[in-house]
Amino acid sequence: MALWGGRFSAQTQSDVAVYSESISFDRRLYRHDIAGSKAHVEMLAHQGIIPESSAAEIIAELDRILERIEQGDFKFGIELEDIHMHIESALIDALGPEGARVHSGRSRNDQIALDLRLYLRDETRKLIAGVREFQRALVERAAADADAIMPGFTHLQHAQVVLFAHHLLAYVEMLDRDAARLADTLKRIDVMPLGSGALAGSTLPLDREFVRRKLGFTAITRNSMDAVADRDFVIELASDLAIIAMHTSRLSEDLILWCSQEFDFIELDDAFCTGSSLMPQKKNPDVCELTRGKTARVYGALTALLTLCKGLPLTYNRDLQEDKLAIFDALDTVKAILRVYPPMIASMRIKRDNMRRAAADPALMATDLAEKLVELGVPFRSAHHRVGSFVKWCREHGCRLDEASLEEMRETIPEATPEFLQLFDPEASAAKRRLAGGTGFEPVAAELAAWRKRLAAEDER
Ligand code: ARG
Repeated sequence: MALWGGRFSAQTQSDVAVYSESISFDRRLYRHDIAGSKAHVEMLAHQGIIPESSAAEIIAELDRILERIEQGDFKFGIELEDIHMHIESALIDALGPEGARVHSGRSRNDQIALDLRLYLRDETRKLIAGVREFQRALVERAAADADAIMPGFTHLQHAQVVLFAHHLLAYVEMLDRDAARLADTLKRIDVMPLGSGALAGSTLPLDREFVRRKLGFTAITRNSMDAVADRDFVIELASDLAIIAMHTSRLSEDLILWCSQEFDFIELDDAFCTGSSLMPQKKNPDVCELTRGKTARVYGALTALLTLCKGLPLTYNRDLQEDKLAIFDALDTVKAILRVYPPMIASMRIKRDNMRRAAADPALMATDLAEKLVELGVPFRSAHHRVGSFVKWCREHGCRLDEASLEEMRETIPEATPEFLQLFDPEASAAKRRLAGGTGFEPVAAELAAWRKRLAAEDER
């Protein structure tokens, strides 16, 4: 008979036991469940609700259970539904009636809220460290080729010259916002729900502050009904994870393009690619493609969680058990991404000559001509028009922009000076972009230095 079986006269039907169990996925919460129970039991004794001797026995037995689980010497089965029941029933098996005191003043509804918050607090901290690692790999990869130039794209069309390092640092910025989002979510996770009971607190004189301090939370929840019903913190974390996955998926798409024969800007290390079972010549960027695919699953988790909560009346409803499947999957997926990407980025080889050759397309410097005209006092819209006419003239004459003579250029750009013919040098074009946040050699070097310093400081924290 289940631990809650007092008012029942029939066993749960076997399909229903399979249907309702959560032990197959919530067993990963065992450490946090035990930590929560230890704090709760200490508090119960401190408040005189249970004898000190019972508390000591229970705590010692919880430690033994923890050890047994870690050694694989603990039997899990669907008869006991979830991780809470497994641990409580192991306590009762070992200690008899003394073990049965553990659940005083507690419900599985506030217990699961506590376990999830403890677990996600740990995981979120690890995620932040993982995001920092990813940033570090990007910064170092960028720094190793700090002067490599390439075409930058808009609409996937050649736009203007950029530094390869500037492109990678764009992802470092995205990941920085991701880390900040996680740190902010952590504030909402880090709230202690125990003492909310099933929904209405408890008649027992529990000390919630005692439990909060023991478990290192910054605050306690202020409304017992909210505390057992709330999954905002899970949804918020899933949304952070979805954005991280999206950023990584976007980077993956860049890498996939860059290692295609058409671009040929990079080569990913063999360890991150696979071959074709049919075509002997193939080396495919599967890791990147899988990231695009896995990102879809992370979005699925976010959608599932939002949908899970939207129609629930207060307070706890069993639907909420499904939250764990979604958030665990999203978490595992993003953790896997964060393990695979830093070494893939670090080992990626860049083909500087190919990048340089593509960046030498003089069309990339058309805007530089227009801005030169602005410097000479021509209103920008007219400058734009003149350079556009020049581009058209070159197309009609079957030449590149840098193949026209000064006289030919003056047919469409009357203000052109000999200096205009020098504007087609891609390094010079990149070098002139000195604004903060720009792709010039100086601002990019400054950003690289700043990121190294910042990430080293994060490391020390
Ligand atoms: N396994 C449940 C969950 O994950 C724990 C809480 C169950 N509470 C209940 N009254 N059935 O949400």
